[in-house]
Amino acid sequence: METKFHRDTWAEVNLDNIYENISSMKKRLKTGVSLFAVVKANAYGHGDYEVANTALEAGADFLSVAFLDEALALRKKGILAPILVLGASRPESAALAAGQGISLTVFDLDWLEKAKVMLEPGQVLQVHVKVDSGMGRIGIRDKDQLMKVESLLKQETCFNFQGIFTHFATADEIKTDLYEKQLAVFKGMLSILTGRPEYIHAANSAASLRFADPEWNAIRMGISMYGLSPSMEMLPILPFPLKQAISLKTKVVAIKQLVKGDSVSYGATYTAEGNEWIGTLPIGYADGWIRKLQGQEVLVNGIRVPIVGRICMDQCMIKLPGPIPVGTEVTLIGNDGNESITVDEIAAKMGTINYEVTCMIGARVPRTYIKDHRLNHVRNFILE
Ligand SMILES: Cc1ncc(COP(=O)(O)O)c(C=O)c1O
Repeated sequence: METKFHRDTWAEVNLDNIYENISSMKKRLKTGVSLFAVVKANAYGHGDYEVANTALEAGADFLSVAFLDEALALRKKGILAPILVLGASRPESAALAAGQGISLTVFDLDWLEKAKVMLEPGQVLQVHVKVDSGMGRIGIRDKDQLMKVESLLKQETCFNFQGIFTHFATADEIKTDLYEKQLAVFKGMLSILTGRPEYIHAANSAASLRFADPEWNAIRMGISMYGLSPSMEMLPILPFPLKQAISLKTKVVAIKQLVKGDSVSYGATYTAEGNEWIGTLPIGYADGWIRKLQGQEVLVNGIRVPIVGRICMDQCMIKLPGPIPVGTEVTLIGNDGNESITVDEIAAKMGTINYEVTCMIGARVPRTYIKDHRLNHVRNFILE
């Protein structure tokens, strides 16, 4: 998968860092605990195929995505590893998933009954039962329904009860009340099962980084795989250093000198106070570099300089200390010299979480992949 790109904006994804983050997590896990690598949403913006392969190389046992199409996309690219669709799929898709060896989530009895009639003779659908222990999203909430689901799964040879799981709402918060309550609810649900499926999983990154429980034998690693902390609260208590995998770079495509009173961009929200050098960058809100980032600093030759004026759909402007050559590299996220701009800094400026920042880096931004400390290949999603 090698594609070229023709605009000087790209996200650099360091696969060595992803490998290291998974290795560090694996060292923390007790023997026999499996690792599900969460590669939904194009691997949180990092690129599904590359992250999936890296995760598998680092010893991940399973991949997980949110939607069936994401799993099918991985299969299409030749990924043969087991994949779990964590979200709700249509029962009508049961045969398609079974045919591709993709595990689906059962989140109520009705879904299971509908999926049963969709399967073709001889097909076996791998399923993981989702328990809603307090997240309030999808999943079975009452024991009676869980009992019925289990007995249907046992009775029907077209299903294999491969796993049971839940999801925590507050594992990334220092306060553990709801986490403990959810864990107790999940354990209560497990206690009514007559048999145990192969995989019992509850922990996301936050819970995996903080807790271990003998009841679960698999974890689902998302944000920490990408080297990002599940929350700011957790930054000081991370059990091992996380290595941010993504950088966002661009180049100055134009430079001009403004004189006092000249303005920059839509709405003329920025006015030069004197002679000022302004550089134009080919990245804008359509790439996920949203208007809220007006005023955010970027790195030019290791120095922080501000974005001035409104961010346009495809371009934005920076104020430079002096003239620099067109083509000078600019770091929006990442390191340059002794300076660094983290995903967390951008999230704070946007008033959001680091997850949203990487997911928002659009398909129009090509990804370059670093493996074994050097450029391995390039992907340009819009030319694929
Ligand atoms: C069901 C489920 N499991 C696991 C994860 C991974 O969580 P994290 O990225 O916090 O590790 C997510 C992420 O949203 C999820 O929805």
